[in-house]
Amino acid sequence: MNKTKLDNGKSIITVKGLVKRFGDRAVLDGVDLEIPDGQITVIMGGSGCGKSTLLRHLVGLYQPDEGEICIDGDNIVGLETKKMNGVKRKFGMLFQGAALFNSMTVGENVALPLREHTDLSEEIIQIIVKVKLELVGLTGFEDFMPHQISGGMKKRVALARAIALDPKIVFYDEPGAGLDPITASMIDQLILDLSRKLKITSVVVSHEMKSAFRIADKMIVLHKGRVLETGSAEQIKNTANPYIQQFVHGEPEGAIPFRQTSEAYLKGLLET
Ligand SMILES: Nc1ncnc2c1ncn2[C@@H]1O[C@H](COP(=O)(O)OP(=O)(O)OP(=O)(O)O)[C@@H](O)[C@H]1O
Ligand SMILES: [Mg+2]
Repeated sequence: MNKTKLDNGKSIITVKGLVKRFGDRAVLDGVDLEIPDGQITVIMGGSGCGKSTLLRHLVGLYQPDEGEICIDGDNIVGLETKKMNGVKRKFGMLFQGAALFNSMTVGENVALPLREHTDLSEEIIQIIVKVKLELVGLTGFEDFMPHQISGGMKKRVALARAIALDPKIVFYDEPGAGLDPITASMIDQLILDLSRKLKITSVVVSHEMKSAFRIADKMIVLHKGRVLETGSAEQIKNTANPYIQQFVHGEPEGAIPFRQTSEAYLKGLLET
């Protein structure tokens, strides 16, 4: 697939020293990262390593205990609601499981952010809804109800909604989860298309290796609440790090123990 160069020099998101504790456990324990502008960055790592928690910080749903999160020039940590709403206008989010409103048609779901955040006329809203549905390959589906379409189509409607306000950045949490491999690869193709055609910065959380390597310009590997390694897909594929090697190849034996005693598991939890 056609990939752009990894480094065009500009970061649209910078995270420094991000710490988040739940009780006495630091789930994020000093995360530093940069998201390059206009490219696809995949944040990966094992279950429970803090990927979704990190994503929730990036979209302002969680406040960190320590650290900075700069999005397009604004530090969003502790930012007042009005200013935060301005930053939120710059990004869209594709939640795991699509999260459509079941009592609304496909068209109404896509129109929702336009109705909430703009005072565009009904006529213009209908045109934008049409264009966005066309972009995700769902021309003419405006009047369908969510229960009348498949899981993959729901994801695409959710994506049309996420890009309704022409965001600079789209965040995806496990976009392929719950989809068959072919439908999941179609979603990957859409992420690539949106990134390449509309120059949207994409931040994708995933533990699907195939998908990650298909779409990533940059990869960030999280482990125990920290960034273990970053690099291009090629660099991560060829890393010498045994943990990442095992993770990338999905092997049961290696740096990550398959057989564990409950004591060792608890000890590992306490050490994170
Ligand atoms: N609101 C919360 N309160 C307490 N603990 C939490 C909270 N949210 C997340 N955690 C804990 O933080 C850790 C990281 O969770 P997170 O959901 O970020 O993992 P993840 O990397 O997204 O995992 P997965 O790949 O399974 O989705 C987990 O141990 C989880 O139990
Ligand atoms: Mg998660």
